[in-house]
Parts: sequence; C-alpha cells; structure tokens
Amino acid sequence: MSPRVLSGIQPTGRFHWGNYFGAIRQYIALQDHDQAFYFIADFHALTTVRDPKTLRGFTQDAAIDLLALGLDPAKAALFRQSDVPEIPELTWLLMTVTQMHLLDKCHAYKDKKEKGIAADAGLFTYPVLMAADILAYDSDIVPVGQDQVQHIEVTRDLAQRFNHFYGETFVLPNAKVLDTTAKVPGTDGEKMSKSYGNIIELFMPPKKLRKKIMSIKTDSTPMEDPKDPETCAVFTLYKLFSSEEQQATLAERYRAGGMGYGEAKQTLYEAAMEYFGEARERRADLEQRPDDVEQILQDGAARARAKAGKVLARAKSACGLSARPS
Ligand code: ADP
Ligand code: TRP
Repeated sequence: MSPRVLSGIQPTGRFHWGNYFGAIRQYIALQDHDQAFYFIADFHALTTVRDPKTLRGFTQDAAIDLLALGLDPAKAALFRQSDVPEIPELTWLLMTVTQMHLLDKCHAYKDKKEKGIAADAGLFTYPVLMAADILAYDSDIVPVGQDQVQHIEVTRDLAQRFNHFYGETFVLPNAKVLDTTAKVPGTDGEKMSKSYGNIIELFMPPKKLRKKIMSIKTDSTPMEDPKDPETCAVFTLYKLFSSEEQQATLAERYRAGGMGYGEAKQTLYEAAMEYFGEARERRADLEQRPDDVEQILQDGAARARAKAGKVLARAKSACGLSARPS
C-alpha cells in the first residue's frame, strides 16, 4: 500500500499566491503517488473567524479554489474537518495524555500570550485537535510549512504517550516540510501574508488583479536606467509564472535600461493571467455548481469517516471505553 498523505488548510481568508506556491501546489502534486486526504480545517478556523457567514464563505471558496487548482476528488479525498465527528471525540482522548507544558510552548498560543492578547482554550489546545486530524487516518506523511513542524512533533509525542499507556494504537506520522525556499514576496516586498496586508489573491477579478500588481513597490530608478532584476519583487514574482527562457529575456530588458517598472508589471500580469487561466475557467464553472461541490465534500467526508471510525474504535477500545475490542 502506498503511504497515506494528509494535510489541512485553514479557511481564514482567500488564498493568495504565497499559499499556492508555498503549499497548495505541492500538496496537489502528491495526489498522483500517494493516498491523499486533504481537508479544510474549519474547526481550527473557529479560533480566529468569529462571523458565521464569513467562515462559511471562506470554507466554500477554499473547496472551490482547491478543485479549480487541480485537486482531483477521484484521487484525493477532499472534505471539511467539521464533517468528521470522530475528530472532536478523538481530540478528547488525546487531551487526556497531553501534558500542559507541551502546549505552553506551542507558538500559536505563545505568540498571542506574549503580545498580551487574551487567548482561549481553543487556541491553547489547537495542537491536540491537529494531532487528532492526523492520527485519525493513520497518516504516514504530513506535508506542511516550516511553521507547522512543531505541531507534528506534538502529534508524535501524544501518539507515543497514548501507545505507551495503552499499547500500539496510533501510527507515528512524519512531517514533509514543503519547499519554501521560494518565499513569495508580497506587494511591499516582504513575505506575502494575510497578516501583513500585502497579498495578491489567486482569483481576483482581472481588473483588480492588474491594479494590485501595479501597486507592487519598486525603487525609484528612472525609466532609462539599467535595473537589477534580482532585487525586484516584480521579477521575483514573474519567475513563478515563467520558463527560464522567459526569465532570461525579461532580466535582459531590466539590465539594458529603457524599460519602466510599469512595463515589467504588465508582463507579470499577463503571465499570471495565463498561468491561472484554466484554473479561472474551472473556478467559474464550479461556482455555478454549488451542489456538485457539496457532493464532492460529502463523498470525501464519507471516505474520511470510514477510516476515522476504525481508528477511533481502536483507540476507545484500547483505553477501556468500549465494551468490545474492534
Ligand atoms: P498567511 O501567512 O497568509 O496567514 P497561512 O499561514 O495561512 O498564510 O499559510 C498557509 C500555507 O501557505 C502555509 O503552509 C505557508 O507555509 C504557505 N505560505 C503562506 N505565505 C507564503 C509565502 N509568502 N511564501 C511561501 N509560502 C507561503
Ligand atoms: N494548523 C494548520 C495550519 O494552520 C492546519 C491544519 C489543521 C493541519 N490540522 C492539520 C495541517 C493537520 C496538517 C495536518 O496551517
């Protein structure tokens, strides 16, 4: 059997170029080789998104975006975390083997606490919920960004403690750290991130997208002077969408002088529109078919539950909760 790959993504905003190149593109590629389970972590998003309509919208958009970007439901199960009730149940079992000091040092909670922002128990126990997500499906590989590696370590720790108390129950997962060498810059040249307000959303309407690209910060080198492509965010972004040959051509134009940043931005805009052209068409189509999208999520949840049900029964039986071992 090929290994099981699992990952989740929080619906806390519309996806941007950083999410795609830093994470989504890489998860999707794994669906061709491994058994893949991908879910939209709406239980996790509850710790930050307080408005029900907004959360529902982000969740729906996340599903449509992932499908439009190539997630194939025939290969990978795509589902909403909250459609798998085994997850909160398993979370409780894991909570009973979680040492407080382990959670104290987890960054989502620690960062908030250090900033003096009041955190709730949901944020504090967030890594336990994440451990349940992973352990519920006997996941072998968890592709994540560097920032999530700590949570995979917590997951392994909890699995080991549970196994130590109750015998071999959970499979120990391994993190597969995504290639983030291509850190995608935002419109201000810093790392693109929702929290910095510098994002370029994947599926902005073309006019807005063009405007956004035109707002990317550049230096004040006059039009006729030579420019350095390597220090320019516009060029760094262009690399994501173009072949080496195309990159060499644009780099040459930067160095020759006589080209303004406006022209480089227009080139970037056209390349991005072309790159995501098919995905945009698929997205427009899926938007018209919300029932089909819902059916995909329900089918994915059924596949996920079939597996999670077995693992939960195994865990309950191991710790003395159910009458019969499964
Ligand atoms: P944000 O910083 O906008 O809140 P998230 O933390 O929700 O984004 O990121 C989800 C995934 O996208 C993570 O795995 C992260 O590594 C990846 N990612 C986000 N921004 C970038 C970026 N600028 N470059 C590369 N990867 C990114
Ligand atoms: N915490 C992850 C993030 O913020 C999302 C997530 C939730 C996840 N459960 C998971 C990722 C399980 C991998 C596996 O990005």
